[in-house]
Order: sequence, then C-alpha cells, then structure tokens
Amino acid sequence: MGFNEEQFKEILAEFTIDTERLQTIAASFRQDLQLGLRDVELSSMRMLKSYVGLPSGKETGEYLALDFGGTNVRVFRIRLDGGGKFEIIKRVGRPLIVPGKYDYICKESTAEQMFDFIAELIDEAIDGDHNTKYYLGHTFSFPSTQTNLYDAKLIIWTKEFATQGVEGEIANDLLVEALKRRGAGNVEPVAVLNDTVAVLLSAAYKTPDIFIGSIYATGHNTCYLESSIHDPNGVGLGGMILNLECGNFMKLIPNRFDKEYDERSEKPGEQRFEKMVSGRYMGELLGMAIAELLGEKGKNYGLTSIDMSMMILDESEHLGKASDIIMAKVGRELDYADVKKIRELASAIVIRSARLVAASFVAIIWQRAGSGKIQKQHVAVDGSVYEKMPLAKENIVKAMGELLEEDAAQVDTILDNGGSGLGAAIAAAMAVNKD
Ligand code: BGC
Repeated sequence: MGFNEEQFKEILAEFTIDTERLQTIAASFRQDLQLGLRDVELSSMRMLKSYVGLPSGKETGEYLALDFGGTNVRVFRIRLDGGGKFEIIKRVGRPLIVPGKYDYICKESTAEQMFDFIAELIDEAIDGDHNTKYYLGHTFSFPSTQTNLYDAKLIIWTKEFATQGVEGEIANDLLVEALKRRGAGNVEPVAVLNDTVAVLLSAAYKTPDIFIGSIYATGHNTCYLESSIHDPNGVGLGGMILNLECGNFMKLIPNRFDKEYDERSEKPGEQRFEKMVSGRYMGELLGMAIAELLGEKGKNYGLTSIDMSMMILDESEHLGKASDIIMAKVGRELDYADVKKIRELASAIVIRSARLVAASFVAIIWQRAGSGKIQKQHVAVDGSVYEKMPLAKENIVKAMGELLEEDAAQVDTILDNGGSGLGAAIAAAMAVNKD
C-alpha cells in the first residue's frame, strides 16, 4: 500500500507558495524593515548595526581572519593587495564537533573549552609564532549587539548551538582571554563582523554595484548598506551596513510542520524564518512530512539537506539512489511511486525556501530604491545551499522575476565563495587604518 494520495497532496500544498502569497510576504518583509528603521523594537528582525561601511577596494596588508559561524571553524592568513586582489597565505580549519570524540557546541561544553579550541587553531595558522604582531578580523556569525567594530555581544545562540557561558558575552573578549592562555597575546582581534557583512565586504572589494550580502547555508541571514542609520537617541550615524538577522523574521505564516519543528527545537519561538529556509532545517522538515505519510508521526530520521540534495539530483529511471537514502535513513524499502513522492516533497521544500529568500532580497531592493528607480546591482550570496543545493539558485532567480517583473533585468545574484574569511581580513584592515 502506497502513500495516501490526498494526504500527500495536502502536505505538498503546505510547502507551496504562489506568486500572490510571495508578493504579500515580500511586502510584509519590507514593512517590517521600515518599522525597524524607525524603532527596532517594532520589527521582528534584530537589525543590528555593524559599524562598518563598504570598503574602498584599496585596503592592503596582511591579516588573520577567523571564520566562526558553523560547525567548521577556519582561520586564514590573508594578504590584501588592493584593487580587489588578495592572496590566502595559509588556511587551517577544524570542526567543533566530531561525533564520539568531542563536541564544543553542546550544552555540556563551556565557553572556555570552545575558545581554547579556536585559539589553538589560530596558533596553528601563525605557526606558533608568538612574537610578530597579528591583527585579526573575526567573522562571528551569530546575532550580536555591537557598539563599535570590536565588541559583538552574543544575544542568543542560533543553528542549535548550546555552549554555556557565551550568550551575553563579548565574543572577542572570550577570544582574547583564550589567546592569552595560549601565550598568543600577539594576536589582536580588531574587528568583528557577521558573515553576511563579511560576504558583502568581500564581494564589494572585488566588484562594484553590490549593496546586499547574504548567507544561504546551515543558517540564513542578509545584510545591506543602509544610507541612514540612527542611534537610539535619534542621532544620525550616516551610512552603515545593517545586519538584519532576518532569520528571525516572523511576519509570515508557518505551516504545521514549521510550527511543530519550532516547538521541539533548541530555541522555540526564535529564528522562525531561518527554520523554514536554511540547510540546518530542510531535512528535518522533510523527515516530519515522511513520518506523517508513513503513520509514524514524531519519528526523527535524521535526514539532512545533503540527503535531500542527493535525492533531488537522482534523475535515474528507478530512483535507485533516492531509494537507498530512504532505506538507510527511514529504514523502509518503498516502492517507486512513493520514492518519487518523497523526491517531489524534497523539491517542494527547497523551492519554498528559495522563494522565501528571494522575497526577502526583493524587499530589501525595494527599500533601498525607495520611490526611485531600482539601481543596477548584484546581490552577493555565499553558502552551501545557494552553491550546491539543486533548484535553489534557479528558483531564487525565478521568484525575483515574478516579484520584480521588468525591473528584474537590473538585478542578479552572484556567488561570493569564501567571503567570510576575506571579509574578516578587509574589516581588520578597515579597523587598523581608519584614522
Ligand atoms: C545567525 C546569523 C548568521 C546566519 C548565517 C544565523 O543563524 O543568526 O547571524 O548570519 O545564521 O550564518
């Protein structure tokens, strides 16, 4: 007995967003943005100041760059040559979690353990040299409040991170202490930035006409260059990159799977948009839908976005690869028709995600244009979902076309691979040479 057809169609419809609804979502995103520019308390997004604008492209010098925002931490030594040119001199990286061996992101681990691990990696990047002065740019990709370019205070962990003693702390202070414990006090963190900001800096360093930077990976978020930022007292701070933390955007209608997943996540009620679109969650949503179809509601099969991408890529006659994945994760040998349905559901979840992300891009483009014409521009995006997930990129383009209509010709999205590292080095250069 295969899946119930009615039930399947109903679930598929839950993950489908037509043009009209997409328009409503884009409009409500823009409205939320406008509210937040007036008073951040009115927006569902955090809209965090970055204390940095776009680079001139002339930044030069050698810097350390720390990319800390997912399970893989990376450190680079980068030489900026100006004119959009740079060279990566050294690169090291290690995961924060190796199942069965260690885990620095779980509830039981501490800030000290986590930052000691990172300091060790930094030490490796400088070959244990404790004499030379190194300036470090830190891409710290979690929602953090800043009052200058150095002091990002973590508001709340996202992406299911749970390490104790980091929320409420200034990430760079924890890093400085760990570097000192290691005897590497010659490494001086001078700038901290969100990964979206890093992508924007990196892309704008190399290419003109870029004002929006986004990450579409394990997590999701976007930043843009806002021309008029004010401090809480209404004093104008001029143009600055604003990290929207739009993973927290909430003024849209989650379906019953989104709601149920949110309830059992590490942080219920938080990051509702991110839980609908990012790579960390898409596999979970698919698993919940499959469990419902199989009458096993509540079961977690541990499906990942990589499983989804392999299923979608399987265009073979018998869907052998997709069946194998289902067998391995779900533990059932399903007939061809049901495997095909699961593959269709996986595609629908990816397409929904891409359409929602596109709606947020369009909202920002509208906001930047105001009542004027939409400027020719590229939206810089980095991240595994954008880069590798089948159907993601093409559906962003398609949805932007539906929303922007004739203005769509003005805008495209471009991949800025590795921007988190390069952007951190650029921010360090901007911090060191600002006077
Ligand atoms: C974080 C953002 C980050 C995004 C992409 C989200 O979970 O809140 O700060 O930019 O992930 O890494």
